[in-house]
Amino acid sequence: MCGIIAYAGYKECQPILLESLKRLEYRGYDSCGIAVRVESRKSRRGRINPTPTIEVYKDVGRVGDLAKSFPQIQGLKGGGRGTPVDGQDARPTRLQTPGSGLGIAHTRWATHGEVSKSNAHPHLDCSGRIAVVHNGVIENFQSLRDELTREGHHFSSETDTEVIPHLIERYYDGDLEGAVTRALADVRGTYAIIVLAAGHKKLVAARRESPLIIGIGDRENFVASDVAAVLDYTDRVIYLEDGDIALVSEGSISITSRESGRGTPDSRLQTLDYRPVQREEQVIPWSLEEAQKGGYEHFMLKEIHEQPKAIENTLSGHISLIERTVSLNVRKEAGLEDIVLVACGTSSHAALIAEYVIGKLCHLPVRVKVASEFNCHEMALEKTWVWGISQSGETLDTLRAIKKARTLGCATLAITNVPGSSITRIAEQVFYTRAGPEIGVAATKTFLTQLVALYLLAFSFASPDIMNAEGLIEGLRLLPSRVRQVLDGAEGIIPHARHLSRYDNAFFIGRGLNYPVAMEGALKLKEISYIHAEAYAAGELKHGPFALLGPSTPVVAMATRDDTYEPMLTSIKEIKARGSQVIALAEEGDEDIEQFVDAVIRIPPIDPLFSPFLNSVALQLLAYYAAKERGCPIDLPANLAKSVTVP
Ligand code: M6R
Repeated sequence: MCGIIAYAGYKECQPILLESLKRLEYRGYDSCGIAVRVESRKSRRGRINPTPTIEVYKDVGRVGDLAKSFPQIQGLKGGGRGTPVDGQDARPTRLQTPGSGLGIAHTRWATHGEVSKSNAHPHLDCSGRIAVVHNGVIENFQSLRDELTREGHHFSSETDTEVIPHLIERYYDGDLEGAVTRALADVRGTYAIIVLAAGHKKLVAARRESPLIIGIGDRENFVASDVAAVLDYTDRVIYLEDGDIALVSEGSISITSRESGRGTPDSRLQTLDYRPVQREEQVIPWSLEEAQKGGYEHFMLKEIHEQPKAIENTLSGHISLIERTVSLNVRKEAGLEDIVLVACGTSSHAALIAEYVIGKLCHLPVRVKVASEFNCHEMALEKTWVWGISQSGETLDTLRAIKKARTLGCATLAITNVPGSSITRIAEQVFYTRAGPEIGVAATKTFLTQLVALYLLAFSFASPDIMNAEGLIEGLRLLPSRVRQVLDGAEGIIPHARHLSRYDNAFFIGRGLNYPVAMEGALKLKEISYIHAEAYAAGELKHGPFALLGPSTPVVAMATRDDTYEPMLTSIKEIKARGSQVIALAEEGDEDIEQFVDAVIRIPPIDPLFSPFLNSVALQLLAYYAAKERGCPIDLPANLAKSVTVP
């Protein structure tokens, strides 16, 4: 989704903005741009114009290409001529000395209007002296645009964003913050914005339902959509909250807010009553190295290999092997009778696995709702505990579901990987996974650590009898080494991935708690290799999808040795009879399976309750190597974004 970075400091901002934009590439984008405030500018005749101006550069495609617009920046590849921005002075607009310590930049993930240079951010007002970058969606942009057009404003893009600089221009009388405040009172929707104005040595930043952080440096400050953008420069951050407006300059940060309290829904949108607030400074526990590829070809492969460590970190301090107990900081209030898990995408697959595990071990009624479909029908509100699962903690659909649940009186818990993310400020309780930063768009280590968190929660609600009898803690303890074994067998998965990469369609099938694992395997394959893959509960395939079976449709089957094994063999035989090739994931030592399938991916032995961990890692590798064989851009799949911050 869109990425935002802004700089206010004593250094030349262009190289910093470009490098930071590269750190935001993982969020997914289609175009990008930069606006910088230039103190003075040399004309072509060599005269100095002392009036500060704004220069904007933007383009379709990669940040690396945008860098070519800045030939004079040391250390950046390129050398092309500056790209004048539409609607600006058509003459070359190369940056002239002296440079600028104030600028904003953006990676765009198109929502309103095609992917084009004119739709890329930053957007300008009519005078070209106010520039805005925006993440989110302005719902009433069309009526605002019509109104502003009638007033004489001229628009040069199809975006919803462009109304913001024009609204600011409408209200601007020398007080930038006041104009931004009044402009925001006119808009409905979600936003994280940063405003740069030629006449001011400060940035104005504001958020509502889209993430925005301030990075604190020494004589320099940053504003960004996430911490990955600033980790090169600082680990000290402030998380802005909904309704905040921040003024950020080289040496100061001040924040005002119109929200009444943490996590409460913004019900007073139209108010102009902002009051100064203090937001706590936090130190990010992630290192820069963790957010770099560290010699791996792709972030996804690195993150797949980091899983044993990520599991260890997430388990750390929570299990006692001697007492066979789990200790967590999460309280289950008396009177809570059922649990609803809300999440999107991969996180919803973790939820579906947890539904099975909690149901089996805790005998608690538990349901999973895809967050965009969350409603509170059939819920006894004050007796329901709603868990929001989101690795990023910024997925808007999940945030809205948790907000709604909380407003209606449900107890709420967030399970997330990102310290300080929005979900941590909405839910009453938080359980952190400790996967470290995940940069690849495909969720891998965050998925496995979500499973760890959910298993820990399930175990903490299970009766002592079950915990003692079933060796569950021992199962958790073994996980890192068993996952390592799957990783050690990666070479053996490559030929199967190569084979799979030649097809255009595939089915993934599972039963019981491995049905959501099949869903996750299919999602991984389709998102990074662009092979159309669908998951089915193995028993369902014959109720329609059988029509698609045949030599051109391989099937990947989870053949875990549990009570689903025999029915799975029956399904496999039915599939084979229709001519499809079957690749099975089966335990080492299971020789029987060989006679029924075309290929076997071997999984180390483990208690079947933990099989989702190992099967998922094998499926991640299968998807990764299939995508690699097809030459796909694995870390940045087409059209996708790492965190989905729009509805
Ligand atoms: O950050 P979240 O866990 O809330 O993200 C939800 C989905 O967008 C995400 O899991 C997505 O499906 C994965 N990136 C796919 O690999």
